[in-house]
Amino acid sequence: MSPHGLATWALRGLDPEDAHRLAILGLKFGLGPLGGRDDPILAVSLAGLELPNAIGLAPGFDKDAEVFAPMLRAGFGFVECGTVTPKPQAGNPRPRLFRLSEDLAVINRMGFNNRGLEAFAGRLSRRGPGVVGANIGANKDSEDRIGDYVTGLTRLWGLASYFTINVSSPNTPGLRALQTKAALDDLLGRLADARDGLPAQGRVPMLLKVAPDLEAGEVEAIVESCVGHGLSGIMVSNTTISRPALRSRFAGESGGLSGAPLAALSTQVLGEFAQAAAGRLVLVGVGGIASGADAYAKIRAGACAVQLYSALVFEGPGLVSRIKRDLAARLRADGFASVGAAVGAR
Ligand code: FNR
Repeated sequence: MSPHGLATWALRGLDPEDAHRLAILGLKFGLGPLGGRDDPILAVSLAGLELPNAIGLAPGFDKDAEVFAPMLRAGFGFVECGTVTPKPQAGNPRPRLFRLSEDLAVINRMGFNNRGLEAFAGRLSRRGPGVVGANIGANKDSEDRIGDYVTGLTRLWGLASYFTINVSSPNTPGLRALQTKAALDDLLGRLADARDGLPAQGRVPMLLKVAPDLEAGEVEAIVESCVGHGLSGIMVSNTTISRPALRSRFAGESGGLSGAPLAALSTQVLGEFAQAAAGRLVLVGVGGIASGADAYAKIRAGACAVQLYSALVFEGPGLVSRIKRDLAARLRADGFASVGAAVGAR
């Protein structure tokens, strides 16, 4: 077993939130793996951002922008930090993070625990090269939730490589209602106004992150709203509140489900977004990716890049190198010269 494999195995014996805290500490002290140089076939352009490879770290792992540098060194093509809210927030009471080992899944109801925008901005301002996105959200007790997103965008303007507007966490009551047509138009309209008033040289892509639990017609409405307000793309998807058949004793915990049981659902919804967007938006595929085959399925369903989190809990950060090797081999086997050539090639 490699040192990192051993560390991952040891962390699995701990309470999942303690294990996560320890993994962050280890990464801060330089104990992360080194990814090495990327195979050029994996490079991709995401709304104008040049990614060395199409595999990103999903938000939630690095909520406070503490370890984006070691995660880029570990081989991720881009890292998304957050969700960050204007004010620091404790989140829900523990336990709030559950490892469903039998299902290779995770349930979380963290509730946007984070140290707030100022601490996040301070760390992001000292970043080196590499694509680092900022995922922004609203405080639970906020009286002006849309104002919180505007505050996040304004404070982090010029610091992040891109922005993700997170309206899809199931753990802040009422947040996902921002995905409905009128509320979304209001939110994206106010963000577009704010963006237009900020210095043009800080302008970077803005994406929306959606839930996989949408009703008929919502996909089309969300796409039209994003196109209408000048967003670059959509991240599909956040965790699900649905509960497919699960075996673990934690299956009944409330919160968002991620990992293997989310893979097919999120890929299906991604395909629906690809059809509705018809090339007008870029899409990022997220949900249950644990292998090159999983990443490849999302790319063929229309994603130009992908992200993952839950599989790291079971496999450790060395997983990203394995996924990249496998994805490159699959692209070559099917005669694609690049990731971009395979996007949407179902
Ligand atoms: C998340 N996710 C998440 N997403 C987001 O936009 N903001 C957040 O703060 C968090 N927090 C968070 C915490 C934990 C513990 C988990 C497991 C997940 C969702 C995450 O980014 C991703 O969309 C889903 O987990 C699906 O991908 P995986 O985990 O199946 O690869």
